[in-house]
Amino acid sequence: MIPDTTSNILITCARGIAPFLKKEILNLGFSVKSSHETGLVTEGTLLDTYNLNLRLRTGYNVLFLLKEFRCESPKDLYEETYKITWEDIIPEDEYITVVSQVDNLTITNVMFANQKLKDAVVDRMVKQTGQRPKSGPERRNIVINLYWKDTRAWIYLNTSGGKLADRGYRKIPLSAPMQETLASAVILATGYDGARHFVNPMCGSGTLAIEAALIALGKAPGLLRSNYGFMHLKDFDTDYWYALRKDMLKKAGKKLDFRIIATDIRQQAVDAAAKNAKTAGVDQLIEFKVCDFRNTEIPAGKGTVILNPEYGKRMGEAAKLADVYVGIGDFFKKKCGGYTGYIFTGNFDLAKKIRLISRGSTKFYNGKIECRLLKYNI
Ligand SMILES: C[S@@+](CC[C@H](N)C(=O)[O-])C[C@H]1O[C@@H](n2cnc3c(N)ncnc32)[C@H](O)[C@@H]1O
Repeated sequence: MIPDTTSNILITCARGIAPFLKKEILNLGFSVKSSHETGLVTEGTLLDTYNLNLRLRTGYNVLFLLKEFRCESPKDLYEETYKITWEDIIPEDEYITVVSQVDNLTITNVMFANQKLKDAVVDRMVKQTGQRPKSGPERRNIVINLYWKDTRAWIYLNTSGGKLADRGYRKIPLSAPMQETLASAVILATGYDGARHFVNPMCGSGTLAIEAALIALGKAPGLLRSNYGFMHLKDFDTDYWYALRKDMLKKAGKKLDFRIIATDIRQQAVDAAAKNAKTAGVDQLIEFKVCDFRNTEIPAGKGTVILNPEYGKRMGEAAKLADVYVGIGDFFKKKCGGYTGYIFTGNFDLAKKIRLISRGSTKFYNGKIECRLLKYNI
């Protein structure tokens, strides 16, 4: 029923990332019909969602619109959901999960909306097929998203299933890792494309260096994942999916002419980062070393140097970090001539300790914390 149907596709993202997601969507040849702070609407078929899931670096979930309707009560929600021919979409023995976002006076409990929608799907499947699909909270197979605002409701198939930020390479996360989609957006914001050196002192679990390597190679981040929501649909087109993957694998074989260096003062962090890079298939491209950020090698020529120091959430912590930020400013000035330097931080007072004039500032959110990517021409 669905493969050839064109519908709206909502691609969600974290706050601050929408401009980068928009560029990515346009570069892939899709239009952008509308955009808001945490998502964009494009248009396409279910097969297009395979491509978007495979290639987008900064998107969170790719949601294919099944139905939009007037919805004034839980009864409307049940009846309109029941009318969708779920038996054509979901295999009888599948496991389904419903995720709702509700902003409506007749319902105060999101769980109740989840339950109503799930009941409608399951009741219809039982009536049409005689079998009852399993359901639960784990987003691993069929995921259905409901957005219900005032008197309008939208039901989407979540073709990603789990969030795209979970690339599958970060087996050892450590503390305070950057989400993969955020790291990718931050690198896209620097304009890095593999045609200069990339240096990442304070690499932690290696997310920035790994995402940089994927970008430099032109490797689709979705190649690293083996499970997507669309794979569980009745009409999953295996041939099309494998042809897409094959095509992207061919494009990912580029050799790099420039170096990617990642260092951290903790052996444990460097070990984890190296393992994560191996899982991502980019370990041969990244040179890892345990050292203080001040001793990180800066290759001659042009390059990007980026640091994501701790920001110190509690009183006292920030005071201890002041020397680190002063040190970063000195490191830029003494060792990174000819490079463009970047700091990603959620502490703007500490950022001032760098004592260099920032030439650009991009707002991001790391979870709920407002952060800045600050640029310095050194
Ligand atoms: C906020 S974490 C970086 C997280 C990283 N972006 C990720 O995605 O995992 C900051 C890192 O800086 C490292 N670090 C702290 N002081 C350092 C120093 N003086 N030299 C080098 N690394 C340092 C810590 O070990 C920690 O891994």
